[in-house]
Amino acid sequence: MSNKIVDLRSDTVTKPSPEMWEVLRSLDDSSLGDDVIREDPTVNELEATAAKITGKEAALLVSSGTQGNLVSLLSSTRPGDEILLEAMSHILYYEVGSAARVGGLTPRPYFSNKGIASLETDLQPLIRPRNDDHQPWTTLVCVENTHNNHGGTILPPTYLSDLNTFAQKNENMRIHMDGARIFNAAVAMKLPVTDFTVHVDSMSFCLSKGLSCPVGSIVVGSQGFIDKARKNRKMLGGGMRQAGIIAVFGLVALEDKWIKRLEEDHINAKHLARGLKELELPIIVDEPETNIIFVECPINTPMEKLVNELSHKGILTFNKANKLRLVTHYGITAEDIAFCIEQFPLVLKEIFA
Ligand SMILES: Cc1ncc(COP(=O)(O)O)c(C=O)c1O
Repeated sequence: MSNKIVDLRSDTVTKPSPEMWEVLRSLDDSSLGDDVIREDPTVNELEATAAKITGKEAALLVSSGTQGNLVSLLSSTRPGDEILLEAMSHILYYEVGSAARVGGLTPRPYFSNKGIASLETDLQPLIRPRNDDHQPWTTLVCVENTHNNHGGTILPPTYLSDLNTFAQKNENMRIHMDGARIFNAAVAMKLPVTDFTVHVDSMSFCLSKGLSCPVGSIVVGSQGFIDKARKNRKMLGGGMRQAGIIAVFGLVALEDKWIKRLEEDHINAKHLARGLKELELPIIVDEPETNIIFVECPINTPMEKLVNELSHKGILTFNKANKLRLVTHYGITAEDIAFCIEQFPLVLKEIFA
């Protein structure tokens, strides 16, 4: 058993930074109010900041990325509509079927290359004609950026722009972006986040992943959209009262220097991937675009054993089918990466012996 723990399971395991704790300690009664009646000055400031950074009219603090996505879907559609979801997307895979169950929506999967679909062959055939009484209307297409299950891959602004033109041509379909890790995409491409958001109608992004806040996500869009989203959030039980106690972390997280810190995670991911690739082992290591690495193992690899053995060496990972997922984040240092590169071969060589 190792004393050292390098937790690469997810960027959701992050703890607040010293600056975040400091700002939390500076709160007093005047920093808080009842947010359901819009009287929490800290939440109001966070929402105004988020809207400004993303170039949208308005923003709404929600409890999680899952709630942000559901609130967004409910606010852009009507029950009975069909929505297009990427086949490996978080909304389709991991949100408990809420679009169908709560929204009365028909989720229709589309295939893609690492999150990027061909508009002509993957998406166009899925659009329902409006003049056929048998068919539901296709009113929303969702994208995920970066794409978690494809390994933190980026959907660049050029693609989002083409998708926007495509959506307009198809009955002005709305576009929702699950931008849980959109700042990773922006930092990796060295572009302002507005280069991505300008092409979509709505977006949710997480404060609680790479930005390392303990709780919270933000939904952004037009004022009319956010008015509906606020009501839908209330319906889902997400109206919080003195929520400034959570929002205050987000104000630190949205500072430019904290967003730019994500670059460290990308550098660490690249080092780790390179170190693993150099091992002469039967594994395929994807080149990370951001902070997520997938390590593909041969089909009969005892994955549970592998995850257990790694954890005994102090390296925590998640496995998805025959792939290991490794995520770099705040709290993981260059020394931790060097430690992993040293320990990994010891375990892998034994597993593949
Ligand atoms: C791409 C993506 N979207 C949404 C979510 C949901 O976020 P939360 O865990 O805050 O509900 C996640 C969580 O991992 C995610 O990876």
